[in-house]
Amino acid sequence: MKTLILNTQSREETHALGEKLGAAAKENMVFLLSGDLGAGKTTLTQGIARGLGIKRLVTSPTFTIQKLYRGGRLVLNHIDAYRLEGLSQDLGFEEYMNDGGLTVIEWSQFAPQLIPDEHLTVTIHLLEEDAREFRFEAAGKQYEELLEELA
Ligand SMILES: Nc1ncnc2c1ncn2[C@@H]1O[C@H](COP(=O)(O)OP(=O)(O)O)[C@@H](O)[C@H]1O
Ligand SMILES: [Mg+2]
Repeated sequence: MKTLILNTQSREETHALGEKLGAAAKENMVFLLSGDLGAGKTTLTQGIARGLGIKRLVTSPTFTIQKLYRGGRLVLNHIDAYRLEGLSQDLGFEEYMNDGGLTVIEWSQFAPQLIPDEHLTVTIHLLEEDAREFRFEAAGKQYEELLEELA
């Protein structure tokens, strides 16, 4: 399955969706989250962390760009590339990307050098009030298999 579309009606439902994704994630996977401010990228990432068994609450890393969360089945490498817009130099964020963990990148369009050929794109659309549409697109076989598990 290359594309999957799922809707949620609340923050809690998005947490539950993220949890399924985190439980199904494999080492070295990369998820790219796109969507407007307030769409739910960080909320989905909180669920992913929970699904990995991470107890710490994931917060928006906008001011730190990158945060690592340990203590779960896989290390979660959470990157928010928003403030990298227009910067082209190598800032070393690749360091944790092939280290056996799971990388989740918000605003990956501002860090194109970090995007591997194979990845999962999650595009979130605000529908109305608390309703959100999640469009998952798999690039690579292991991500297609992940979507089979999620469906
Ligand atoms: N269905 C939903 N899924 C995710 N977040 C929702 C939903 N409904 C309401 N919200 C709210 O929308 C906001 C999403 O914020 P956040 O996840 O930080 O967005 P982003 O990281 O995309 O900027 C939160 O305040 C959350 O409580
Ligand atoms: Mg965010």
